[in-house]
Amino acid sequence: MNITIIGTGYVGLVTGACFAEMGSNVTCVDIDKEKIENLKKGILPIYEPGLENLVMQNCKEGTLNFTTSLEQASKKSNIFFIAVGTPPGEDGSADLQYVLQVAKEIGQNIKDYSVIVDKSTVPVGTAGKVKSTIQTELDKRKTKIDFDVVSNPEFLKEGAAVNDFLKPDRIVVGADSKTAAKFMKRLYAPFSRNREKIILMNVRDAEMTKYTANSMLATKISFMNEISNICERLGVDVENVRKGIGSDSRIGYSFIYPGCGYGGSCFPKDVKALIETSRRTGFEPDLLNAVETRNNLQKQVLSSKIIKKFGSDLSDKTFCMWGLSFKPGTDDIREASSAVIINDLINCGATIKAYDPVAMIQAKKEFPATWFEKNQLICEKNQYQAIENTDALILVTEWKTFRQPDFQLMADTMKKLIIFDGRNQYDPEEVDEAGFEYHGIGREIDFKIDKGS
Ligand SMILES: NC(=O)c1ccc[n+]([C@@H]2O[C@H](COP(=O)([O-])OP(=O)(O)OC[C@H]3O[C@@H](n4cnc5c(N)ncnc54)[C@H](O)[C@@H]3O)[C@@H](O)[C@H]2O)c1
Repeated sequence: MNITIIGTGYVGLVTGACFAEMGSNVTCVDIDKEKIENLKKGILPIYEPGLENLVMQNCKEGTLNFTTSLEQASKKSNIFFIAVGTPPGEDGSADLQYVLQVAKEIGQNIKDYSVIVDKSTVPVGTAGKVKSTIQTELDKRKTKIDFDVVSNPEFLKEGAAVNDFLKPDRIVVGADSKTAAKFMKRLYAPFSRNREKIILMNVRDAEMTKYTANSMLATKISFMNEISNICERLGVDVENVRKGIGSDSRIGYSFIYPGCGYGGSCFPKDVKALIETSRRTGFEPDLLNAVETRNNLQKQVLSSKIIKKFGSDLSDKTFCMWGLSFKPGTDDIREASSAVIINDLINCGATIKAYDPVAMIQAKKEFPATWFEKNQLICEKNQYQAIENTDALILVTEWKTFRQPDFQLMADTMKKLIIFDGRNQYDPEEVDEAGFEYHGIGREIDFKIDKGS
């Protein structure tokens, strides 16, 4: 099959590389000239495990190509994936300007019956807008060409995107025409070898499914963060509570880890967008509002603990931050908790020495330049260099390399032996034995009391 993917970001590039891997001819289109030039040279714009190999291999075999010209790509294609960004607008609703711009260009360029697939996360009703935008362009061309708009939301996880795409749990397809549904089944057949993965529904149901999935996961996270705050005030260890409830198969262990808030390009914006969609129907979504509020507050839990410990004048304090990306396995720092914590501490005069295995390049591009210019935020070459002469360690992203650190080496080089564990990665008892004071999320364990001293 000849496929055109428009938007070569996390979703578009992974989608393109994976379809090429399964034997389709794929052209990835992006308006960002530099991104396309780099991709042609084999330089990827993002870090994603396994992606570089897939891109290189399929480029070499000629099944994966890159261009800035949708006109060029559309000459040999009759399936178009829209995978551009849908950032939040001022009121929190999804900004559809990029999606509709692409729809317009598709309408200007299609030659034959085409299937247009909304892969971007878009609110209910967007496929209808895409359809009328394309139709308007066809009318301007005075051409009659049949086409279908399909919703095929993407459920990949950054950090495991290639694997998720190649071995999906499910493929949600919203199609209002039998022809388009058949087309999509054929397209995804190589991904459904061991069982049928496609869940077929109508277009609006599919659009809603994506928002519901992300909002459900965000709700689980915010729920557990709320519980962690209650636990902390009751002197209860939330980690024991987590294990206690996760063992119930109706609840399960996934997405109930307390932490310092969810980030990334999806959960925050998708919860906001669903809130706005709901409001527009006249329904105030109280639960989703609370999920968002809890998350915003949760991002400040660590900085509050630090200020409580050291006071609000931190001008003579230096902290080490391990992890900048919003989660391990990715260099994506969009809406990351790290930015909120750094900002809070810098506002109190602190200096931060940070280390992240892959996200430091991105941080230098996206965090405020003044943080670096004024040496308020310093990126170090490795995790132990970052910890030297610091007053505390703040763990923000649970990268594997931070899981079992050399506490002895840390104790030898740190000024004060204090850990603020934003992901509850460490065993407080082990940390205490190594001579460190421990502050977790929902686990402020006072070992002095436990030991009866
Ligand atoms: N990142 C994720 O983990 C993830 C997962 C599932 C769904 N999604 C959804 O997928 C969509 C894309 O997300 P992303 O993270 O890949 O975004 P991204 O910002 O990484 O990439 C979007 C790309 O689209 C390009 N673009 C914008 N306008 C264009 C145009 N007119 N023509 C060609 N290219 C254009 C941009 O230059 C950019 O490279 C969003 O709706 C997002 O919510 C993202």
